[in-house]
Amino acid sequence: MILQPINTLFTGQNLIELPEVESTNDFAIELLKSTAIPEGSAILTQKQTKGRGQREQNWESESGKNITVSFIFHPRFLTAARQFNLNICVSLGVLDFVDQVLNKEAVSIKWPNDIYFNNKKIGGILIENTIQGNSLQTSVVGIGININQTEFHSEAPNPASFKTITGQDYNIYESFSILCTCLEARYLQLKAGKETDMKMEYIKNLFQFDVYRDYLIKGELYTCRITGVSDSGRLLLEACSQGNEEYRTFEADLKEVKFIL
Ligand code: BTN
Repeated sequence: MILQPINTLFTGQNLIELPEVESTNDFAIELLKSTAIPEGSAILTQKQTKGRGQREQNWESESGKNITVSFIFHPRFLTAARQFNLNICVSLGVLDFVDQVLNKEAVSIKWPNDIYFNNKKIGGILIENTIQGNSLQTSVVGIGININQTEFHSEAPNPASFKTITGQDYNIYESFSILCTCLEARYLQLKAGKETDMKMEYIKNLFQFDVYRDYLIKGELYTCRITGVSDSGRLLLEACSQGNEEYRTFEADLKEVKFIL
């Protein structure tokens, strides 16, 4: 139970705490069908029985050990074409939170929105938007951050948690409260139209930004450096030149590129 107040204007102020739920994102999506939900509402649970990740994957989270939450926002100020800016905003908010609590270098955003410590994943984000006309109407921002879990059993190749990194235990509710503050600051920055600055900051913090590494792009192996992201959120890469060849560039979506770690 949350005992201390959350120091925000709206993020996490309307808090729905559930001891157990299949998926907080699914719960939020159902709720939105029947009720008007205030901006920044949060559905927080100790235990998800069918937590969902990107690419139809399951999200593993041991009961009571981690942050598993979905926030509801109404970013009507964003056009559908600019919806990737919300991914940027949330990624930066979670990055700020991890930076603040862990206080360590080597935290980055693995495109599009995984949170990494060195080359291990400590958090994931699943954003599900509805669009009305030309603009976003609602956004369910699902966030899973591994806090005190030390054993992982799913197929995920490289999980880590705050505890596996520092050896310490963390208070989940204190951590959640800091997450709300960090997220709200970034959401307000987005709302204030600072999209260009935020995109630059996001790119600068990308895992493997501007360093040559191996990637599978549409099934073929290339040594590339990440140069940025397109406005629609596709990853931009440039291949190492071979002899006198021109530098070859790529623009890839999540299905088309695989990081070789
Ligand atoms: C990923 O990296 O694949 C995204 C993981 C997102 C997990 C969170 S946990 C809270 C929310 N509810 C879900 O079912 N998924 C998201």
